[in-house]
Amino acid sequence: MEKIKILAVVGSLRKESYNRQLALIAKEILGDRVDFTLLEYQDIPLMNQDIEYPAPDAVSRVRKEVKLADGLWFFTPEYNHFFPGVLKNLIDWLSRPISDQEPHVLTGKPAAISGISLGMSGTGIAQDHLVTLISFLNMDVMNVPRLTIPNAMQQLDSNGKLTLKASYPFLEKQANDFLCFITK
Ligand code: FNR
Repeated sequence: MEKIKILAVVGSLRKESYNRQLALIAKEILGDRVDFTLLEYQDIPLMNQDIEYPAPDAVSRVRKEVKLADGLWFFTPEYNHFFPGVLKNLIDWLSRPISDQEPHVLTGKPAAISGISLGMSGTGIAQDHLVTLISFLNMDVMNVPRLTIPNAMQQLDSNGKLTLKASYPFLEKQANDFLCFITK
């Protein structure tokens, strides 16, 4: 049997992003039980209907990766109580139908959401906005559990790397629950 494919979508383009590090820890937790890949999408242009058809190569590549995935796991920062514009831009591209016959690639796709921030909200407010958007797009959202991690600075080691001491068990639980959610 083929392994379940989880595609991690990180809402930060920053190299040392805490959300990217969180995704990599989730990958470690799931280990060889799944095929876990981080979506790279820096090269996606800003949505502009003048260049929508034919789709730019970067958009076609990303759509293909999403289509092949059994589930999408979002790891999003919070920018001004919202999720970052780069993530909205990506989702806008993915939300467009490929052709008259084929719906957009997010339709019915299982989704989990986690996030870590410097502030107290732990990305919870951004996540609520993201849920509104991806529910509108008919994704199959796992609302419980979601993971919100505040005060990122408290879970770093002396080199500034995320250790996730206190939040690790919650990420472990979310990972296991998402596997069940996908295979339900
Ligand atoms: C932030 N940050 C932030 N943090 C928070 O808890 N609530 C917020 O509303 C915001 N707003 C915000 C706006 C903008 C434009 C930036 C750049 C940052 C801080 C944010 O949590 C911090 O930069 C994280 O490190 C971003 O996530 P990554 O890049 O580490 O994954």
